[in-house]
Amino acid sequence: MTISKLVKFTKLVEIKKDKTIYEVAEDFNIKIKASCDGKGKCGKCLVKATGMLSEPSKAELKLINEKKLSQGYRLACEAVILGDVEVIMEE
Ligand code: FES
Repeated sequence: MTISKLVKFTKLVEIKKDKTIYEVAEDFNIKIKASCDGKGKCGKCLVKATGMLSEPSKAELKLINEKKLSQGYRLACEAVILGDVEVIMEE
């Protein structure tokens, strides 16, 4: 696999309620690919994320293969941030 561009961002933000990676990215005008508007249906919002996140949702278990899940890939629109996280987006 060739990665043409690797985007890594670190933001220290205070989140007043549990939000998904997708929602927080939107709050900071960070574009994440999505063709289902964050409804957990397209699988386009795949990011690599580590840290305190919710358990993989049914949509993630359906749309992400086991190998990628074990490597830390998540759907940005489904993974809820519960604490410190690091997110890597590949373009
Ligand atoms: S935006 Fe479509 S699955 Fe996340």
